Amino acid sequence: MVTFILNDETVSTVKPSGSSLLDFIRYDMGLTGTKTGCREGDCGACTVLVGTVEGNRVTYSSAVSCLMPLVNAHGRHIVTVEGINTGKISAVQQAIVDHSATQCGFCTPGIVMSLTAESLAARKTTPGTAIASVSGNICRCTGYKSIEKAAAVIASALSDKQLSDPVSWLVDRGELPAYFLSIAGRLSVIPPLSPEPAGVRGIGGGTDLMVQKADLLAESDSVTYIERKELKGIRADNGRCTIGAAVTTSELGHSELLKRLLPDLSSYIQLIASEPVRNMATVGGNIVNASPIGDISVMLLALNADVILTDGRRERTVPLKDLFLAYKKLDMREGEYIRQSSFIYSDDPPFFSFEKVSRRTHLDIASVNSAISLRMSGDTIGECHLSAGGVSPVPLCLKRTAAFLTGRTVSAETLMQANEVIQEEISPISDVRGSKEYKRLLLRQLFIAHFLKLFPGRLNLKIDEL
Ligand SMILES: Cc1cc2nc3c(=O)[nH]c(=O)nc-3n(C[C@H](O)[C@H](O)[C@H](O)COP(=O)(O)OP(=O)(O)OC[C@H]3O[C@@H](n4cnc5c(N)ncnc54)[C@H](O)[C@@H]3O)c2cc1C
Ligand code: FES
Ligand code: FES
Repeated sequence: MVTFILNDETVSTVKPSGSSLLDFIRYDMGLTGTKTGCREGDCGACTVLVGTVEGNRVTYSSAVSCLMPLVNAHGRHIVTVEGINTGKISAVQQAIVDHSATQCGFCTPGIVMSLTAESLAARKTTPGTAIASVSGNICRCTGYKSIEKAAAVIASALSDKQLSDPVSWLVDRGELPAYFLSIAGRLSVIPPLSPEPAGVRGIGGGTDLMVQKADLLAESDSVTYIERKELKGIRADNGRCTIGAAVTTSELGHSELLKRLLPDLSSYIQLIASEPVRNMATVGGNIVNASPIGDISVMLLALNADVILTDGRRERTVPLKDLFLAYKKLDMREGEYIRQSSFIYSDDPPFFSFEKVSRRTHLDIASVNSAISLRMSGDTIGECHLSAGGVSPVPLCLKRTAAFLTGRTVSAETLMQANEVIQEEISPISDVRGSKEYKRLLLRQLFIAHFLKLFPGRLNLKIDEL
């Protein structure tokens, strides 16, 4: 039985644990402030807050409830727009009113919840982060300028936010109901779900599975990976950085450790999906859905990562580049799941770049993406790993091109010759994201863009001259 706190009420349900939180909220609990729009994570109308106990505190983030299976709500605090009601309008709601940032109102609860999640985040809020927090909310009426203005006002109201305990700070100011202060204690007495039977394939954040197989999941019980301790955490030990399979994309972006090992990673993570989807989507899910354009897979390939597979009893380590066998086909045995991925690091970060072209910046998967990691040995390229998505049936490690680059100097001539090797290594097909010729051209440009970014001034050329 799944048990969680919905607003101020502890609820338990025997509904199939693969069914969506959105349906439970609206149709079982009658809380219709949370809207149903696309049911694919695209519109943000169904956005709620998800509170998770960490130590003696609860940390909150936004999530799209349409893609959250009930099993992932277990032991958490789920807050809908009704649950932030204090009897007076909140500063977030007031800013939306003051800037006419609502018209028909269909998107408004989702926007309010995204901005409330930003208010609750234990990090400094700036106009930029406030606007980014609504990156997953589509509004068909208002025009985004008024929403941006409201977000900027909210950011300034949060300028003295108490980062050590934003929940108490907001409660003290009358921005959240007082019951929020009782949640940590109430969540701590909800027993964990009983251990899942071995060998059953589980769900991560649900952002892929709940789109592909929502009907099937709505009728079945699911097991979840997100609660398993051994699948969590990002660590650096003995020269290897390990990332648990249940680590979310947001956790990758916020990790202080990864900021040290790969300083630009957090800006690349912003190019994946939207804030609420990133808060749910896991590293393991990105690898196992085996999309040829999976952004995290492409980044990990360029880091020459391994994955550890386990069936709960035995473990084996597989280089990520060997895990992808064919379109959506992985070297995974019956009952196996991913425990973690890992890559070698040193205190001197590599030159690391990720590039992605998609039709829009947020909420879109790539037409073509690419990542590179290299180390220089004097003037020449030392170790080099290059990857690309959208140009073959699997996220592709461009081994021959990397071998070609090794030992050469960074010059326009080297890149032109390397591009010839790239073009031999890839096999794009024409589809809705572009013709095969366009994808070949895109990868060439992304490859050059890596070097323009990593070695400014060295190439003495501009990308539009190529
Ligand atoms: C609106 C939207 C935008 C998106 N944008 C992007 C984008 O820009 N870039 C991008 O790369 N992706 C994008 N995605 C796809 C998706 O969010 C990611 O691939 C995500 O990382 C999937 O992770 P998940 O935990 O949600 O996977 P789930 O849906 O939970 O699972 C996907 C598959 O992986 C399996 N699985 C999950 N964890 C494990 C594990 N530890 N071991 C074994 N199997 C496992 C599941 O059984 C399932 O088969 C987007 C999705 C949506 C809905
Ligand atoms: S209904 Fe559109 S994101 Fe959930
Ligand atoms: S106000 Fe109508 S969709 Fe945003």
